[in-house]
Amino acid sequence: MVTIFWLGISYLLGAVPFGLLIAKVFCKVDPLSQGSKSTGATNIARTCGLGYGILTLVLDVFKGWFPIIVATSFTHSATFLTLTGLAAVAGHMYSVFLNGKGGKGVATTVGVFLALAPGVLFWSIVVFAMVIIASGYVSMGSLCLATALPVFLLVSGHFSLLILALVLMALIFWKHRDNIERLRAGNEHSWKKKKE
Ligand code: G3P
Repeated sequence: MVTIFWLGISYLLGAVPFGLLIAKVFCKVDPLSQGSKSTGATNIARTCGLGYGILTLVLDVFKGWFPIIVATSFTHSATFLTLTGLAAVAGHMYSVFLNGKGGKGVATTVGVFLALAPGVLFWSIVVFAMVIIASGYVSMGSLCLATALPVFLLVSGHFSLLILALVLMALIFWKHRDNIERLRAGNEHSWKKKKE
């Protein structure tokens, strides 16, 4: 019973649209109708400024980290931790408070793995940062981070977390389908200044 209750709380916490609230309250912008139309930190940074993007990032990471930390205080069941992580990220991606809209799940996934496998997360973030620096595309970095997580889990022997990482990778790729289309077409938003 406690476990079902906690999955519901994890989903609801994940569903809190911090990015949307920050954008609406502090800069009077609706991120669902601007930029990439995502409530995630990248779009908040794009439409409201870097500081608000960083604030959104921290809160979205927290939405993944906190449910796992609480869950590990009463169980170490890999199945339950997997379901808790999925509930938090699903809440962020498909928020009940936004009629099923939301973010693309990367920051909340980072929070989940910050709690479960910080070493693996560290190396995945190194990949993420290197790809963004080299390409200028946050979305490409996110897709590489989502791919690096299961690969590094496999290499480091964290087999119990593999299903979670693989499902999250699939969800993140699905949520980035417009970004993938733009990357293929060569018109994805870039943080690098385009040469004239
Ligand atoms: O984590 C989200 C990022 O990968 C892409 O965000 O707003 O450019 O679609 P956005």
